Amino acid sequence: MTRSVVLGCGSYLPQNVVTNDDLARRVDTSDDWIQQRTGIRERRIAGSHETTSTMGLEAARRALDAAGVKPADIDLVLLATSTPDNTFPATAVTIQAELGIEQGMAFDLQAVCSGFVFALANADSLLRTGQATRALVIGSETFSRIIDWDDRTTCVLFADGAGAVVVEAQQGTGAMTDRGILASKLRADGRHRTKLYVDGGPSTTGTVGHLRMEGREVFKHAVSMVTDVIEDVFAATGYGAQDIDWFVPHQANRRIIDASAKKLGIAEEKVVITVDRHGNTSAASIPLALDVAVRDGRIKKGDLVLLEAMGGGFTWGASLVRW
Ligand code: COA
Repeated sequence: MTRSVVLGCGSYLPQNVVTNDDLARRVDTSDDWIQQRTGIRERRIAGSHETTSTMGLEAARRALDAAGVKPADIDLVLLATSTPDNTFPATAVTIQAELGIEQGMAFDLQAVCSGFVFALANADSLLRTGQATRALVIGSETFSRIIDWDDRTTCVLFADGAGAVVVEAQQGTGAMTDRGILASKLRADGRHRTKLYVDGGPSTTGTVGHLRMEGREVFKHAVSMVTDVIEDVFAATGYGAQDIDWFVPHQANRRIIDASAKKLGIAEEKVVITVDRHGNTSAASIPLALDVAVRDGRIKKGDLVLLEAMGGGFTWGASLVRW
C-alpha cells in the first residue's frame, strides 16, 4: 500500500514584528485584551517586498533542504492560500518556476484557514493514486493585505508567514505503524459562509476586499466542529487521544485550542502552540507550527502527529500523520 511520507519541513516569517502595544497605538485595544481573548502577544507582518509567492518559495526551499530533495524530483506543487499574488495564474506556478521545476503539476487550493489540511489530504490522494511521486505542500498567506486595519475586531488576530512540507509516495505495509499520512477527514458547510469572509472579489466587486468576521459565531462552532472531525480520524485509524505524541492545531486562538484539547482529553504538554508569536496565519499556521516543533526537537521520526483546522466557509478537517 502506498503511503505519503513527510520527508522534511520548512518555514518563513517576515522580519517585521508587530506587538499588541503597536496595534494599541492604531486602534482602541490593549495588550491585556488581546492576550486574554486570543493568547496572541505578537505577530509578523510582511514588508512591501514580501508576497505570498516570495514567502512560500523560501519556506519551500527550506523544506527541500531539510528533506534532502532536489526541485527536479518534485512533480506536485500544491499551495494552500487565500491571498494569492494575483487572481490568476495560481501562485503555485510562480513558486514552481522560481524553483526551476519544469515537470508535473502546480496549483492553488483555497479552503481559508483549513487550507493546509485540505492541501495535505489532496496531495496524499494524488500520491496514493500514482498521479505524482513527490509533492511540495505549502501554506503561505499575506493576510495583512486583506485586513481592515481600522477594524479592531479582526486586525489584532491575523498575520503573515509561510510553511511547507515535502511528501513522498513510499511503499507501506498498510498497517497503522507505517510512516506517512494515516487518515484525513475534510468537511465544509457553506451555510456558514457569511460568518467569516472577504467583502470583495473578481466576479463581484472587482476589488480584493477586506476580511469580515462574526467572531463570536466562529468561536461558537469551532470546538465542536474540530473535535467531531478528529473523532472521525480516530475512528478511521483505531487511535485515540492517549496515543498521539503531538497535537498541532491551526493557530487561531489559544482558547479554541485549549478547549479542543481538553474536550478530546489531549494532555497540555502534547499541544504545539505558536499563536502567541505568530498570530493567525491562516493556511500557513500548521506548517509553521510543525516546523517550529520539528526544529526544536519535539517532533521526531515515528511520532504520531495530529493536525486539525477550521476556517471560513466553514471548512474544517483533521489529519493523523506518523512522522
Ligand atoms: N480590543 C478591545 N476590545 C475589543 C476588541 C479589541 N481588539 N475587539 C472587540 N472588542 C470588544 C467588542 O467591541 C465588544 O465590546 P462591547 O461589549 O462594548 O460591544 C467586546 O470586546 C466583546 O466582544 P466579543 O466579540 O463578544 O468578544 P469575544 O469574547 O467573543 O472575543 C474574539 C472576540 C474575536 C477574540 C473571539 O470571538 C474569537 O476568538 N472568535 C474566533 C475568531 C477566530 O478564531 N477566527 C478565525 C478562525 S480561522
